[in-house]
Amino acid sequence: MSAEIFDKVKNIQAEIKSASPDTAEALEQFRIRFVGAKNILKPLFGEIRNIENERKKEFGQLVNQVKQDAETKFNQLKAQLEEKAEEADAGQLDLTAPGEPLQLGARHPVSIVMNRIVKIFERIGFVVAEEREIEDDWHNFTAMNTPEDHPARDMQDTYYLQNSTSMLLRTHTSSVQARTMVEQQPPIRIIAPGRVYRNETISARSHCQFHQVEGLYVDKNVSFADLKQTLLYFAREMYGPDTKIRLRPSYFPFTEPSAEMDVSCFICNAEGCNVCKYTGWVEVLGCGMVDPAVLANCGIDPEEYTGFAFGMGIERQAMMLYKINDIRLLFENDVRFLNQFTSAY
Ligand code: DAH
Repeated sequence: MSAEIFDKVKNIQAEIKSASPDTAEALEQFRIRFVGAKNILKPLFGEIRNIENERKKEFGQLVNQVKQDAETKFNQLKAQLEEKAEEADAGQLDLTAPGEPLQLGARHPVSIVMNRIVKIFERIGFVVAEEREIEDDWHNFTAMNTPEDHPARDMQDTYYLQNSTSMLLRTHTSSVQARTMVEQQPPIRIIAPGRVYRNETISARSHCQFHQVEGLYVDKNVSFADLKQTLLYFAREMYGPDTKIRLRPSYFPFTEPSAEMDVSCFICNAEGCNVCKYTGWVEVLGCGMVDPAVLANCGIDPEEYTGFAFGMGIERQAMMLYKINDIRLLFENDVRFLNQFTSAY
């Protein structure tokens, strides 16, 4: 009886030794048969009670040995198969295949135009000032001499924060003028690029968000002539050395006198095109002498100091320069559109 069981175990041992599963499926069969939870060795452990006492130890050792053989062989085979699979993968690797091309990013046309404007003013000593987009009513309107009943304050035009009548999304970068003057005494010479918000219906021509660049110069004896010469310098740097400028009287609450500046059309060289509507001129910015009331609101003595300021929108200029006919394209971030401006200007 016991000899038979010994033979059975030895047969299993031989079977394990000679097995050579060479696929993942065959190895799984091997595992189920010899190593898995219901392997054929398991019931043999129970047979020990049918073995005569003097051979019980020998039997126990044999079954344990076979169990170990099975596990060792399984682990070896598994490692071999994995190695084989890796080699097969490596065999498929084509080292001569061209690499994935790295897509180069492109500057946004708004950034290109904005940076260009900022650089032009930096060259004559203006320093970049960046400020918050969520503003309070005082810096955006009150300090800038915009009275309580001014239509710009209307909910129709201004985005107020929820449940607030005093916190808003700035409607112009002119708020940076107030922020700067409150903190700093003259001489002040800043250029402030940034995003602004207005409650406008989105269309091909207008958007509820856009960008502006604001300039402010406050010192002793700053005159309208300084403003005009600074803007002429800017226009020539920006649109070409032959550019002419024209200042038309206008009104802004924070400047007195105020003006709007036109430049000779840089698209058609003032010969007449649909960008300048055949007038030869395009409007680019608003400007003026800082209203003494604004200086006083911000803690600067208007008897001692004067200043000029200007502000311009970026999107419209980018659209003219790049012949973009829909402002929404500038905010949709479609890479097929944006990629075109890598080296365009
Ligand atoms: N803040 C004005 C606007 O958003 C633009 C402007 C006009 C800014 C005249 C100025 C200025 O600094 O002097 O329309």
